[in-house]
This record gives sequence, C-alpha cells and structure tokens, in this order.
Amino acid sequence: MKTYIVGNWKLNFTVGESSIYLHKLLKSLPNYRDTEVVVAPSLIALQPLSLQIDRHKVKLAAQNGFYRDYGAFTGEVSFSQLRGLVDYAIIGHSERRYILREDDKMVAKKVAAAIRNKVTPILCIGETESERAFGETADVIRDQLIGGLSEVADDDLHKVIIAYEPVWAISSTKAAKIATPDEISEVVKMIRKVLGETYGEKPAENVPILFGGSVNASNAGAYLTVPGVNGLLIGGSSLILNEFTDIIETAKRVRA
Ligand code: PGA
Repeated sequence: MKTYIVGNWKLNFTVGESSIYLHKLLKSLPNYRDTEVVVAPSLIALQPLSLQIDRHKVKLAAQNGFYRDYGAFTGEVSFSQLRGLVDYAIIGHSERRYILREDDKMVAKKVAAAIRNKVTPILCIGETESERAFGETADVIRDQLIGGLSEVADDDLHKVIIAYEPVWAISSTKAAKIATPDEISEVVKMIRKVLGETYGEKPAENVPILFGGSVNASNAGAYLTVPGVNGLLIGGSSLILNEFTDIIETAKRVRA
C-alpha cells in the first residue's frame, strides 16, 4: 500500500502564497512512486493550483465539499464542481464537526457525494479529550466510522481513506497533547475491527488509515511505523515547507 502524506492548510495562505508554496514544493520533490503527497489548500486556490500542479508529484485535496451536486444552496461548493480539480477531499474534520456542527449524517452524505464524483474521501474520525477520559473512545470511533460510511456501498469501501485524528492531539486544540504510538495503535486496531465486522476482513485490511494530530518532522517517523498506519494528515507543520518536505523524506526512508 502507498504511504499518504497529506497537508491540511486549513484557513491559511492567500492564493498567491499557495501558488508560491506549491511551486517550491514541486521543485524540491522528486517523483516518489510509493508516497502519495497531497495538499489541501483553501477552496479558492484549488482552480489556479490545479493548472500549476504536476500530478505525478503532488495531488490536490479539498478541505470540504457539499453533499448535493447543484441547486439552491447559497455559499456551498459541490463535489460535482470539484470533480477533476481534486483527487481527494477531507471530510468530517473535527473543526467542521465541532465549530460548524456537522453531524455523522451530513458527513455520510458528503462521503457519498465525493465518491459519486470520483473524489476520494478522507473521512476524519476521533474522540475528544473528555470522551477518552470517560472511556468512550471505542464507542465514538465506532459511531463516527459506521455513521460516516453509512451511505457507502460495500463495493466502494476501497475508495475511502480513514484519518484518525484524536481531537485532543490537534495542535490548535487548547493544551493539545501528543498522542503516543501505543495510543494510536490501539485505536487503529479498533478501526480495522469495526471495518472488518462491517465489510469483511480482507476489504478492511486494504483501507488506508492515516494519523493526524501535532505531527511534525521529529515525530513523523515514529507515527509512520505504528502497525496499520498508512500515512499522516498534517496541519500546522504542513504550512512550513521544510518541515513538510522533511516529513515526506522520512516517509520515504522509514517505509522503504
Ligand atoms: P495539526 O492538525 O497537525 O496542526 O495538529 C492536524 C489536522 O487538524 O488535520
């Protein structure tokens, strides 16, 4: 399986800054065959960046998309409009769940809309600090996973990527903590177990699972060697070009 290194730029960079970053990134990267490098810029930058990008080296992801393809939905951008511009879309990120109140039902519709439009959804799931403290991690993971995938046909499971992002480890969370490889390994096992029970063991094994939460160039190697982890979803550190390219280098090294 490929290793995925996904940079989530969130609400950062102007279109011009995004373009300069991408230019430098493309220049510094050789063609990594087994490493899928993806950046998720702001929606407004996707169109110009899609013309600039070399898809052999880097792919684009949307940070969101709407679940209906067209209609009276002021302010929304659909996956049918994103089709062809991006290869991936981050869906159900905790910032959208908790700040914008997206629930599993909406997340599920977005996952389905992405697949319908040939965009690979990166479905984000993860427990909050208090859910973990109350011993609810397994239930939250199960609910978000089953809920988020509820509109995905069994045959389409291979079109989905899961990102485990414990909310308490995301760098922008107040007093964020660093997740240990053991903590991640335990939840990755839960994810495969739920997928296995729902879709069968073999299809479950083939779903890429990424980890995200305060990943940087120093801890990327440890996270990438957690059994069952197939890549990283990186926020803050992906905004610093050297840090991001160091993580890509690490991925190439530890997963060679
Ligand atoms: P972080 O963000 O790497 O800054 O913790 C990860 C994310 O929110 O996707």
